[in-house]
Amino acid sequence: MKSEFIARGSAPPAQTEMAADAAGIAEAARILRRGGLVAIPTETVYGLAADATSDAAVGRIYAAKARPKFNPLIAHVTSLEAALAQGVFSADALRLAEAFWPGPLTLVVPLAPGATVCAAARAGQQSIALRVPAHPVALALIAAAGRPLAAPSANRSGRVSPVTAAHVAGDFAGEIYVILDGGRCPVGLESTIIACVEERSSLLRPGGITRTDIEAVLGHALGEPLGAGQVRSPGMSRSHYAPRAKLRLEAATLVKGEAGLDFGGIFSDVKNVLDLSPRRNLAEAAANFFIFLRELDARGPACIAVAPVPHDGLGEAINDRLTRAAAPRDTP
Ligand code: TXA
Ligand code: MG
Repeated sequence: MKSEFIARGSAPPAQTEMAADAAGIAEAARILRRGGLVAIPTETVYGLAADATSDAAVGRIYAAKARPKFNPLIAHVTSLEAALAQGVFSADALRLAEAFWPGPLTLVVPLAPGATVCAAARAGQQSIALRVPAHPVALALIAAAGRPLAAPSANRSGRVSPVTAAHVAGDFAGEIYVILDGGRCPVGLESTIIACVEERSSLLRPGGITRTDIEAVLGHALGEPLGAGQVRSPGMSRSHYAPRAKLRLEAATLVKGEAGLDFGGIFSDVKNVLDLSPRRNLAEAAANFFIFLRELDARGPACIAVAPVPHDGLGEAINDRLTRAAAPRDTP
């Protein structure tokens, strides 16, 4: 079996992209129960999953991603009921979970007494990030593993998030041993993260569910997180999602030699240009975003010019990723 190295501690075999069918899910669950890593599809992006209740298993995620140990992970569970065993839910948190789970929403809540998610997954914090993913493969795998799964996006720390099994394979050539191939992730951007730990719930990361939809369910505006400006959620550091090329945002035209990430067909050039959504649909643009960014970057331009993307709806999350991708690199 390809996974035996985990138990024996011998040299890893070449990685395997496995079909996400019943046999693949059963094998992946076996690897997870033994403390191994499996890359899994979710509706947002691919995750690099491990047993969230084991410090040793979770340690392998941090090592594989070269992720700073202080950056906590999201624990993925199959239901609100399972989440309630791990976290203490405020009225806001309950309302949001009932409205959006399963779905691209992560709730950061105080740790529940008796929670089984380990300290390493929480980076030692007394809060916990929880999510019920809306993807049949992810849900089947969590159920088969019989425990919460910690899973950050399956990219190297600070780099562009993966939305296909091939992206994961490319980032971790030969280092992740099993990738469950569930096709392309339909949402294409990570989950929205809401902190429900202070009196007023606050937005930590815009993502696949819009601020407007969340505020409509809550019946009030989201607050600014306390200590805004500090790195409260370490994934929110200024430079993240970094392609190799530089990014030039809010571009109206292309400069010679640049590749172009278009929105709504404003670049007259079409050579070396990919359009996130010719019809200006933000859900389509979100679904294409990381794929196109990776594809243009792979063509090796020094700079990618990016057309303006509206800031409303899913545009808030797209612009958040663009700003971080364009920021001066403070990650290696
Ligand atoms: O869509 C997603 O959320 C994907 C899929 C795989 O589920 N996962 C994902 O994980 O984006 P990751 O690790 O790339 O981003 C999780 C973010 C990080 O910025 C981390 O700092 C934050 O969640 N986070 C986790 N636990 C936290 C906590 N207790 N307090 C504050 N932020 C937390
Ligand atoms: Mg990430």
